[in-house]
Amino acid sequence: HREQVGSDFDALIAADQRIEPRDAMPDEYRQTLIRQIAQHAHSEIIGMQPEGNWITRAPSLRRKAILIAKVQDEAGHGLYLYSAAETLGVDRAELLDRLHEGKQKYSSIFNYPTLTWADCGAIGWLVDGAAIMNQVPLCRCSYGPYARAMIRVCKEESFHQRQGFEILWNLMRGTEAQQAMAQDAADRWWWPALMMFGPPDSGEAAKGGHTAQSMAWGIKRFSNDDLRQKFVDMMVPQAEKLGIVLPDPQLRWNAERGHYDFGPIDWDEFWRVLRGDGACNAERITQRRRAHEEGAWVREAANAHAAKQAAKQKE
Ligand code: ACO
Repeated sequence: HREQVGSDFDALIAADQRIEPRDAMPDEYRQTLIRQIAQHAHSEIIGMQPEGNWITRAPSLRRKAILIAKVQDEAGHGLYLYSAAETLGVDRAELLDRLHEGKQKYSSIFNYPTLTWADCGAIGWLVDGAAIMNQVPLCRCSYGPYARAMIRVCKEESFHQRQGFEILWNLMRGTEAQQAMAQDAADRWWWPALMMFGPPDSGEAAKGGHTAQSMAWGIKRFSNDDLRQKFVDMMVPQAEKLGIVLPDPQLRWNAERGHYDFGPIDWDEFWRVLRGDGACNAERITQRRRAHEEGAWVREAANAHAAKQAAKQKE
């Protein structure tokens, strides 16, 4: 039976066909997807916090309405992703427990603070920009439910990125203080955004990484470094349009490579943040646990309602 599972699965992957929940799949493939989709879902819901921090202080009613909608979108993305993970045979309650116990990761980027309003612009422009770069290829992921969830997520992320760009665009056309605020936000978010793509493809940091296997399975379509390079190439002209100087003196066009060269990334900082030692790790998890506990009555009410409906149908 195991051999049959292997050959059907391999044939589907070789033909670049989608694997669906009903299909047999190797356990390692299933576990890799659960790990990645859960981490992705956790990132979406933890990612509500940095910007949620500014909802009460958005500078106008229009900005407040946009920000509320955006933060709600992130919650929605979390829900699609937990649902996609559930098709692999895990329970979302269990995944949330693993997040709350620190046993599953969420993106490093959400452990940085949002100090000024311009940070909402920088998150939209840089963080959502990086998210799109990473997630558009996931629309072609070999696992059907994940790939389909990504289509809508990417459409919404594109809107988020435009709204971030527009916040910074307006600040850069404002007073000197507003321009300085936008520049400062870009200075603080640029390097962490580059780290979002994950550790480099080669060297010590790449050991134990998942990229080669995930690419062979059609989960990842590009390596971390390739996506990071695409992101830099996309962002440099946008920064020039904005009038923002990216905080990297080594950033320059390399005509031979046809790409921008950029300076070294501080991977020690990345691993420190992953170990829990970033500026906001403790705050993010405490807030998440509190939200979960405060939401217990909603889950109980939903379960009671579902049980009542099920009983009615039996009658
Ligand atoms: N933050 C936290 N952990 C990370 C990050 C990051 N930015 N990048 C890599 N890691 C972790 C990996 O989870 C892995 O840890 P694990 O073995 O304990 O699970 C380890 O670092 C090694 O990395 P890789 O071998 O590159 O891992 P992987 O193949 O899973 O690639 C990546 C990482 C690119 C993030 C991939 O999981 C992915 O594309 N995920 C979907 C997108 C996503 O999660 N986005 C979240 C942020 S965007 C947003 O929410 C708006």
